Amino acid sequence: MANIPASSGARSSLHGQWSSRLAFILAVTGSAVGLGNIWKFPYVAGANGGSAFVLVYLGCILVVGLPVMMSEILIGRRGRRNPVETMTLVAQEEGSSKRWGLVGALGVAAGVLILSYYSVIAGWSLDFIIESLTGSFQGKSKEEVGAVIEGLNASWQRSMLWHSIFMGLSVFVVARGVEKGLESAVRFMVPGLLILLLVLLVFAMTTGAFMQGLEFLFTPDFSALTGQSVLIALGQAFFSLSIGMGAIMAYGAYLPQETSIPNASITVVLADTFIALLSAMIIFPIVFANGLNPEAGPDLVFRTLPLAFGQMPGGIVFSTLFFVLLSFAALTSAIGLMEPAVAWTVERFGLTRRAAAIMIGMVIWFVGIGTALSTNLMSEFRILGLDWFSAVDYLTSNIMLPLGGVLITVFAGWFMTRKSTSSELGGDSGIVTAWRFLARYVAPIGVLLVLANSTGLLALITGD
Ligand code: PHE
Repeated sequence: MANIPASSGARSSLHGQWSSRLAFILAVTGSAVGLGNIWKFPYVAGANGGSAFVLVYLGCILVVGLPVMMSEILIGRRGRRNPVETMTLVAQEEGSSKRWGLVGALGVAAGVLILSYYSVIAGWSLDFIIESLTGSFQGKSKEEVGAVIEGLNASWQRSMLWHSIFMGLSVFVVARGVEKGLESAVRFMVPGLLILLLVLLVFAMTTGAFMQGLEFLFTPDFSALTGQSVLIALGQAFFSLSIGMGAIMAYGAYLPQETSIPNASITVVLADTFIALLSAMIIFPIVFANGLNPEAGPDLVFRTLPLAFGQMPGGIVFSTLFFVLLSFAALTSAIGLMEPAVAWTVERFGLTRRAAAIMIGMVIWFVGIGTALSTNLMSEFRILGLDWFSAVDYLTSNIMLPLGGVLITVFAGWFMTRKSTSSELGGDSGIVTAWRFLARYVAPIGVLLVLANSTGLLALITGD
């Protein structure tokens, strides 16, 4: 890359800028709010005992998620390039090694891997639009409703079809560029999703098991907590906030200089957490009222919500709308997952945005075949005891994102001067001091302890 201006304040991005502060918040919220909140959070909370998991999750969001998100945005805005180039550039400006660029590369790889399976699950949501429209859930028993997702999973042709359609849509939106593609989609998606979730919440209150659901989620029972589940809660916090892989860094690159990073981060974190909790508060009452299993796994949401829609007046309309919006939520997250890889290919190889999007999309589509087939043709296939989907999910959410996050905060907290970071965070203040303490000590040490504990490394070191 030629001609890098010396003063980062004057630098502008090659991909344009957000039209306003709201546009940035919308885009980051669009990236954060997705299948992670509605599909993943409830099933991992259910599989890990509920309440204690939820508490650990909230702790992770606060002491790790928030400082990592702020670090990512501030580095992104300073570098104003794709995550690889940004890390290299900012590291050099701060007098550190260009090898920091590898952190960006780790993120590019994580994005590609995550989207490979994310697209398959988003495909389930697309399929459920059609199922909703044709009334597949109306007045059906839990067995009949469950059979719909089972049927989809059993068919490799249908799984591949929807995976392909979703990847096609993602490529289309990313190819259109930052402003046109990203902004407009989020503007109606988040509010729409919120309204439908509130409708579902009212339904959940009428199931007769609302309190039981709340108890499951909010009365802590620490006996259910293991080292593994703490790691999964941490991984879920990274996944849900879209942090640790450069997605938010890439978005930060398009952020106007005057926007407050702490305010934007807090807004996004609150919105994301609210939607995840809301979703769980809807799903567990339905689980308990119908004698379903809270540990059903990845298809939990696709068994519970359709059952609810099938029992409520206007179910066809609500159900169709819901899966349309969920698919949109997945799409706005998919854009964030692709952006680091696409921006990198554009800047590194001088491809057009369109060519880069198509090329990266094809790679992701290909890797995703493993997940599309993991419930049918490849259901016997195991890597370290996990099926393809679970292995890719574990590697990315629980290892790559936390590791990327530690490196990002360590870089911002230790390798950037206080002057640089505080100027990005809006001047020296209590917020900067709090951020620095979390970014330098609490977040990295916390994440490394959890990682070491769950990989058995800690036991090895302490000799327990
Ligand atoms: N946060 C998104 C979700 O909850 C997933 C995602 C992860 C998006 C990482 C971008 C980057 O669905």
